[in-house]
Amino acid sequence: DKGNHRHFMEKEIYEQPEVISHALSHYVDFAENTIGANAAAIDFKAASSLAISACGTAYLAGLVGKYWFERYARLPVEIDVASEFRYREMPLSPSQAALFISQSGETADTLASLRYCRDNGLKIGAVVNVRESTIARESDAVFPIMAGPEIGVASTKAFTCQLAVLASLAIGAGKARGTVNADEERALVRHLAEMPRIMSRVLNLIQPQMESLSRELSKCKDVLYLGRGTSFPLAMEGALKLKEISYIHAEGYAAGELKHGPIALIDENMPVIVIAPYDRFFEKTVSNMQEVAARGGRIIFITDEAGAAASRLPTMATIVLPVVDEIIAPMIFSLPIQLLAYHTAVFMGTDVDQPRNLAKSVTVE
Ligand code: F6R
Repeated sequence: DKGNHRHFMEKEIYEQPEVISHALSHYVDFAENTIGANAAAIDFKAASSLAISACGTAYLAGLVGKYWFERYARLPVEIDVASEFRYREMPLSPSQAALFISQSGETADTLASLRYCRDNGLKIGAVVNVRESTIARESDAVFPIMAGPEIGVASTKAFTCQLAVLASLAIGAGKARGTVNADEERALVRHLAEMPRIMSRVLNLIQPQMESLSRELSKCKDVLYLGRGTSFPLAMEGALKLKEISYIHAEGYAAGELKHGPIALIDENMPVIVIAPYDRFFEKTVSNMQEVAARGGRIIFITDEAGAAASRLPTMATIVLPVVDEIIAPMIFSLPIQLLAYHTAVFMGTDVDQPRNLAKSVTVE
């Protein structure tokens, strides 16, 4: 049932505040502002490093998770797409922990990576939406994302719920490893707790602008997304979402890679979507944006109030989000990239919930 939404994808985008709050309440004690025991079902303290494997959007959630586990828990992370992970014969040891991220819990390559790790004696955690799935059954610990059924082929709420769970696990791992103290834990958890309310506000705030911008995007043949830090995986997620439902060619790049190749593509026909909250990477990303502007590129700047005030570069559009803590920025900044892809596809008249050639669950290699 789509309720009063045109597509499941739209319904699922707007469900995010509610399902994220549900997901968080499984991992977080909001009365005490602490991370609870459900986030500690794997012994991150004893782990020498963490291996993460997943496909598509779930892989990009894992890539954001890598930044968090390394930053908050000082736990080194090895991550790869499951189709490479399973075959690249990486040396593994039983002192490592492994996480597999999958909405369906049935993705063939992710399952094969899991079995490879299990055969090597690693402790296995599964971040899944479907709790009865094969990947969940074959894991030592299951971390449900509690997103509810996701019908739209393009993943939206599962992605942000995966992020919310990974953030909780990374903070929990930091607590276990002594790299996040009690004050930091409380502060981070308070930020997580604010997230659902901020998401609702942002969804309402940006909707009309996303709809009108989608008209511009629908005329384009190619779109480039740029970001740094956790905004880099978001840039790739933005590009993935746009290409899979609107069939517009899109690429996501680390902003610092611009001058190593993609800058050659910049002209007035290809919009460049720059994802840049006012964080410690902001100035660097803005200098990349300057390189785009200097070559006549048209910029769609997704930033926050502080970032908008700090940059004077001319843009085709600036999407201004509230200033939020770094730990929740990836979830908040997911909203404009989802809505932009959604409205562009709607405007172009594609089959948004069932894009051509794609399946919701990829159970063959
Ligand atoms: C993109 C998308 C896919 C899936 C991928 C993994 O919007 O939905 O890239 O993320 O096929 O699927 P799961 O998470 O079920 O393993």
